Amino acid sequence: MIGVFDSGLGGLSVLRSVRDMLPGQDLLYLADSAYCPYGPRPLVEVQGRALAIGRWLVAQGAAVVVIACNTATSAAADLLRAELPVPVVGMEPGLKPAIAASRSGRVAVLATSGTLGGERFASLVDRFAGGAQVLTVACPDLVGYVEAGDLDGPEVRAAVVGYLAPLLAEGVDSLVLGCTHFPFLRPLIAELVGPAAAIIDTGPAVAAQVARVAAGSARGVGALRCVTTGDPAEVAVSLARVWGGPLPLSWASVEI
Ligand code: DGL
Repeated sequence: MIGVFDSGLGGLSVLRSVRDMLPGQDLLYLADSAYCPYGPRPLVEVQGRALAIGRWLVAQGAAVVVIACNTATSAAADLLRAELPVPVVGMEPGLKPAIAASRSGRVAVLATSGTLGGERFASLVDRFAGGAQVLTVACPDLVGYVEAGDLDGPEVRAAVVGYLAPLLAEGVDSLVLGCTHFPFLRPLIAELVGPAAAIIDTGPAVAAQVARVAAGSARGVGALRCVTTGDPAEVAVSLARVWGGPLPLSWASVEI
């Protein structure tokens, strides 16, 4: 079994890519809804949650743990790799492909404040920015809209326009979805930017890495099950909206 987690529903965007690439694997998804969002939380708190969840997934039988969250990867990937007895796959904003796709040399990374303020992101910019101008935008409210299952309503639309309009006006032609919640807003973002900007999501690349790591170590029958630390009745409604249909969902307490 492959264990996948995020602060909430965002990591389902990664889970979908993993399931498409590895349809025969059993997948267990943990949404840490009781502690969502991670973005504004102190580093040590995100580290504590990520480690507790990683251990919980291993205790459930995970042969691989996937951190389907840029914020938790930034805070805790090294810690989980040191502490867990199984391979850990993390993710980071797709800055390199975004720069490759840009003609203007101006790219923007939409992510959480936790990701954008982390050492990992600073190192990513150091390694790949070259002569490109990298604009960073923390968009905490977008996480909330996705958690509420609102992917296209007037409020989320207005919020996305508010983030994108100044970027496009500045000549940005490549946008990185640096938070796993944001691929669920991709149709809306694509509609608003049209052909003016490329949209980069690292979910499929993460799934390819999971496939490499899981080769030979995780098997199953293609079962897919979700667990939330929040209120399952509430989470189930949003989950069905973002996933496009219901998934089996139960509750678990994962304490530090
Ligand atoms: N989906 C997460 C990420 O990729 C975190 C969102 C949040 O909880 O703030 O960064």
